[in-house]
Amino acid sequence: MKFPTDLKVIINSAMTLDGKLSSYTGNSRISSKKDLVRVHKLRSKVDAIVVGINTVLIDNPMLTVRFIRNNRSCPTRIIIDSYGRIPLDSKILKTAATIKTIIVVTKQASKDTIEKIKELGAHVIIVGSKLVNLKKLFAMLYKMGYRKILIEGGGELNWSCLHDGIVNELIITIAPIVLGGRNAITLVEGRGYSTISQGIKLKLTKIIQNKNDNEITLYYNN
Ligand SMILES: NC(=O)c1ccc[n+]([C@@H]2O[C@H](COP(=O)([O-])OP(=O)(O)OC[C@H]3O[C@@H](n4cnc5c(N)ncnc54)[C@H](OP(=O)(O)O)[C@@H]3O)[C@@H](O)[C@H]2O)c1
Repeated sequence: MKFPTDLKVIINSAMTLDGKLSSYTGNSRISSKKDLVRVHKLRSKVDAIVVGINTVLIDNPMLTVRFIRNNRSCPTRIIIDSYGRIPLDSKILKTAATIKTIIVVTKQASKDTIEKIKELGAHVIIVGSKLVNLKKLFAMLYKMGYRKILIEGGGELNWSCLHDGIVNELIITIAPIVLGGRNAITLVEGRGYSTISQGIKLKLTKIIQNKNDNEITLYYNN
């Protein structure tokens, strides 16, 4: 399948100086209020926000646009969730009747699970047999009219999207915090590459310094 060239896919993440997306206990409010506002501005400009199921299980996010004035309707929330593990009482499903929500599962998800998710107003797409087939999914989303998609992690999803070559832009805010923790999730998890030469090479396009909060935001293109 040919990947659409006019589909814009952005990864946005906040990480510590040592590359962690969260502490080993799952704490992930890393960057400043100013950065949070920037992220919500970015959310207001995209058609969909995508996260992995572990992020929903740990953070229970809303994935809506807040902290800014916004006349557009909220972007579609898309959860990558092979087995349909999303809790029926998660904030995402509790608001699925009013904010467009797609739960992307695989053939591993039971019919019963899918029915329960749909009853709460979310749409369900089945793509892939074990893990969600992201290349196929993004091509489907393109056909459905999505042109600008924001991926907000976590580390496993970031790896798959980067490895599959479906990301055009990577935006990373680095906060002046060192967390450590060998079990703390990093910006990119997954299997990884065995040599530096195999690693994904990106071009730095912009640096924004937030002196008050000792933060920088880096913009990279592929
Ligand atoms: N600082 C930040 O900017 C930020 C942003 C987001 C998240 N986080 C943190 O990141 C942590 C969660 O990250 P995580 O790496 O554990 O998990 P994740 O990326 O949120 O979710 C990964 C899960 O998604 C499912 N999945 C299905 N198909 C997949 C595919 N093709 N590729 C990858 N995953 C697929 C898998 O579970 P199934 O097999 O069960 O479907 C997989 O384990 C949380 O602590 C959260 O707070 C931080």
